[in-house]
Amino acid sequence: MSEPLKTSGRKTDTVVGTLLVAFVVSLVCSSLVASAAVVLKPRQVANAILDMRRNILEVAGLLDPARDVDELFQGIEPRVVDLETGAYLDDIDPETFDPAEAAKDLEQSVEVPAEIDVARVGRRAKHALVYLVRRDGEVSKIILPVSGYGLWSTMVGFLALEADGNTVADITFYSHGETPGLGDFIAKPAWRGLWRGKRAFDESGKLKLQVVKGRVSADDPLADYHVDGVSGATLTGNGVTKMMQYWLSDHGYGPYLRNIQGGEGT
Ligand SMILES: Cc1cc2nc3c(=O)[nH]c(=O)nc-3n(C[C@H](O)[C@H](O)[C@H](O)COP(=O)(O)O)c2cc1C
Repeated sequence: MSEPLKTSGRKTDTVVGTLLVAFVVSLVCSSLVASAAVVLKPRQVANAILDMRRNILEVAGLLDPARDVDELFQGIEPRVVDLETGAYLDDIDPETFDPAEAAKDLEQSVEVPAEIDVARVGRRAKHALVYLVRRDGEVSKIILPVSGYGLWSTMVGFLALEADGNTVADITFYSHGETPGLGDFIAKPAWRGLWRGKRAFDESGKLKLQVVKGRVSADDPLADYHVDGVSGATLTGNGVTKMMQYWLSDHGYGPYLRNIQGGEGT
């Protein structure tokens, strides 16, 4: 058996020495991790804002890879809407209003009644942040944040409507946890393309927009309101339908969209 290594006649592999080294190493490492988190936080926030802006530009049909996202975003007009009345709230700055934070604050949020919470939203902010696109000064598109539960996850995205507050211009999902190859069809360009030109409400104002099981048949009298589902992933499609049912209802953007349809959207 070999003798423990000795330096200057002192034994170095004592329990106290080992614990001291472990303590110093963990102190140094945790300080490094904590400093990195603090230093990188502003960059993470900036990247999240940039990503959100890119998604909004994309659903608005204004994303141009050759141009700067922040510069293009100057063409988008964020507005705060009171979801109960559907009116714009010009005394709240859209640059600083954060609906996700507001949804956590009891004063600034409401619970979605269980009987209408088909999208499993839970609580939502009393006010919403919507985005307007203008052409020649007139509103040409309205972009609405939407979210709801699919099969496995909360799916979060934007629904873009034309100026009539009824015709779908585009839809995008930038966050979801549905299965790759099954439920992730919601984020595929080909499926998004099926939404363009569909209508949300019929002539009497009744919400008809929905994802159907399988393909929309050629003789479907509601084909203008129906979007193809994906076989084997019907439950995710049902989640998107429920999301529309909630967010386009009277408890969601209904009052706002009625204002838009009545010509009060500017
Ligand atoms: C591992 C696994 C993952 C699945 N992921 C999804 C999914 O992301 N979205 C979905 O709608 N169905 C998913 N399904 C299938 C559903 O359980 C269900 O069978 C399907 O949505 C029913 O659609 P269909 O009636 O068109 O067959 C998954 C099934 C398995 C076994």
